[in-house]
Amino acid sequence: MWHGLGWPIYRFMKSYFDQLGRTVQKRWQQKNFSLESFPEIASSAMVESPPSESVDLEEMIHEFLINDDQPFQSQSGFGQPELVAFNHSRFYIRILFWLEGTTDVHQHEFSGAFHVMSGSSIHAEYEFETAHPVTPYLSVGDLQMKKIALLETGRTVPISSGRRCIHSLFHLDMPSVTVVIRTHNDPGTGPQFNYLPPHVAIDPIHAGSDALMMRRKQLLGVLETLGDPEYAERVCEMVESLDFERGFHTLLHAMEYLQALGEWEMVLEVFQKKHGELATGVSATLGESLRRDVITRMRSYIEEPEHRFFLALLMNAPNRLEIFTLISARFPNQGPASVILAWAEELIEPTDFGLAILDAVFPETLDVPIQKQAEMLLAALQNGLEGGAAAESLPGELEEIQGVLRASSLGVLFD
Ligand SMILES: [Fe+2]
Repeated sequence: MWHGLGWPIYRFMKSYFDQLGRTVQKRWQQKNFSLESFPEIASSAMVESPPSESVDLEEMIHEFLINDDQPFQSQSGFGQPELVAFNHSRFYIRILFWLEGTTDVHQHEFSGAFHVMSGSSIHAEYEFETAHPVTPYLSVGDLQMKKIALLETGRTVPISSGRRCIHSLFHLDMPSVTVVIRTHNDPGTGPQFNYLPPHVAIDPIHAGSDALMMRRKQLLGVLETLGDPEYAERVCEMVESLDFERGFHTLLHAMEYLQALGEWEMVLEVFQKKHGELATGVSATLGESLRRDVITRMRSYIEEPEHRFFLALLMNAPNRLEIFTLISARFPNQGPASVILAWAEELIEPTDFGLAILDAVFPETLDVPIQKQAEMLLAALQNGLEGGAAAESLPGELEEIQGVLRASSLGVLFD
């Protein structure tokens, strides 16, 4: 069988990807393997013959399990897992499975294109402005979100190497499967920075290979487990004597425990005093990093797809308006505020201290019986979603509840 564009429909995965690879190879060779031309060649090949329409996922899995005639498989830990479907000396095609994957904001040392073969994702694109390299492995600057959109099955997106393409993906369905046609490596476009919004870029490979820091963090873990009363003092000494990069990684590691100890502000001040202007964006970056960690942890026990979509929005979207737009794209026939209220109601759970929506726990200071808490939490949320009557005009109790919501992962709904 053939598509209108002259592409056959393949019964077997291998023949499909062989044909896709050979087409890309031939077209790229005609462009003298110019790196500039590769993203367009890779994406148009998948737009013409979309993997989402050409390959049956179940058959593909079955065939990969029993057919030994496969390209060389990598040892890559990326994807859950990564299958190599076509390999050429200048590029390869990989199929990535994602079970609960969310990527950090990142750039690439390669170029090409990716295609959503199964499932869907929230895709956010960024620019890193006023970048100031502290070392070749760490820069400070301003990460600005340029676009956030829902990528449904069948969408193809070009990838450029380096800072031209900074993005993140939050996969919504289990599994999400993407096909990537990519170069092995684009010389001179590394390192493959990860971005910690809103102000820091780090080379994760360099950070991961600093064995001395790894051991120091493990040693801090020992002090934490032992409840060492000198913990905060030790961390202070570290950030006082170490360089910016190692000091930053120390703070990143110790922040949550220091906050629980009530010592965070004191340690942060030592770092800020030492590094002056260079440290300006560090507090906001560490705060955002912790917020994202909290949402990622909730994702590990929240399985309902719509609730995971809600978490994706809370983690990635910059404000209420963008969240409403993304909900309307996915659920065009429902009002976004009522969708959120329905999710919030489904997510209400009892804790030791009272009812909670995600990490927003009903304030203990209010003496309200548990039977009434759900209604009040939802009323405070609804007020925020409606752009709200100013908090000060709310009854005192709702104002206090709204304060808890604002300080939680739901805070972005009030921006
Ligand atoms: Fe990527």
